[in-house]
Amino acid sequence: MPTSRRPKDKQPHKKPSSSAKSKTFRPRAGGLQPKPHSENPEISEKPKKLPPQRRLLTKGPSPIMQAPLMLTMPAFHDYKLLDSGFEQKLEQYGPYKIIRPEGQALWQPRLKEMAWEQADAIFTGQDDEDTVGRWKFQNRLKDAKQEDEWLLSYDDIRFHARFTAFRHMGFFPEQAAHWQWFSNLMKKEKRPIKVLNLFGYTGLASLVAAKAGAEVTHIDASKKAIGWARENQALNELQEAPIRWICDDAVKFVEREIRRGNTYDGIIMDPPKYGRGPKGEVWQFFEGLNDLMHLTRLLLSENALFFILSSYAIRASFMASHELARDVFSGLGGMLSSGELLIQEEGSERHLSTSLYTRWSKN
Ligand SMILES: C[S@@+](CC[C@H](N)C(=O)[O-])C[C@H]1O[C@@H](n2cnc3c(N)ncnc32)[C@H](O)[C@@H]1O
Repeated sequence: MPTSRRPKDKQPHKKPSSSAKSKTFRPRAGGLQPKPHSENPEISEKPKKLPPQRRLLTKGPSPIMQAPLMLTMPAFHDYKLLDSGFEQKLEQYGPYKIIRPEGQALWQPRLKEMAWEQADAIFTGQDDEDTVGRWKFQNRLKDAKQEDEWLLSYDDIRFHARFTAFRHMGFFPEQAAHWQWFSNLMKKEKRPIKVLNLFGYTGLASLVAAKAGAEVTHIDASKKAIGWARENQALNELQEAPIRWICDDAVKFVEREIRRGNTYDGIIMDPPKYGRGPKGEVWQFFEGLNDLMHLTRLLLSENALFFILSSYAIRASFMASHELARDVFSGLGGMLSSGELLIQEEGSERHLSTSLYTRWSKN
């Protein structure tokens, strides 16, 4: 296989340069404890105490455990993984072929070089979802600007794709495995379902839930992301659907909902490795997840149907969130599964792992 397809500017992996990142994700001796605040200028609030043990509601049966359970993206008409290899992937997003870095693709590409040369856009940046990079447009997109958007659909959900500086197109197609799962669970219930979508981004999970009949509360810290989600709502003529779009810090919102005594039948969350709330609140995956999971457990209704955690912080194992969830869902019965979300390459047996998940359901 010719080597010309390797990224020309491939550098040995560099550590993230910002002090926040290097402080945030370096494993620490003695477990994943937050740094004392005196050492970490990023955190100005007082450290949150871990939820007390009484939050482990151990009265009922333990969930049945399934791990690993690998979930492959269901058929997605407007998205296909065409090929991968040499730490890159070639994907089809509607009319466009796109090349992006893919650190997991250690193998050789299957397709001929010509197929890769037909790509309309190439992301040149580090293999790190947190750092921004640049798009290089060629072929049909040569004169296009980064702001350009185009229409895609999953099943009967329509949405806009865009070239973001964070190398994705504003949605994560492998999440369709969860969308299908929770829609089916909801449709079987002949009752109103309330869903909370935390870190909801451009709103696809919220729209899928609304289409399946749920009353949805969508939380995201970014006004821009919520604007994009609302645009997607309009594309689906779901303006009248009961969706609350709330720009807020996920943890603060959950804490407030607990105080207000509100509950949800389904909770979806896809927390990033690092993020900030609208008032600068710091979200750090490893430091924050335990607390947030226990808090969201308190928001599950008596007759809760499902809970989904996705994680793109793949330096952890799915067993990490699985064992955390074993604590959180103890006494709740049902089924607890964890594994990875996979995308199968077109015309091949090859599967690309994109993220980790842990999910619970009543049945
Ligand atoms: C990677 S996206 C989630 C992907 C999305 N759930 C999906 O499947 O398409 C992460 C989102 O978390 C939001 N975010 C980051 N920190 C946050 C915080 N503290 N509170 C609420 N949202 C936050 C970001 O604005 C971003 O939209």
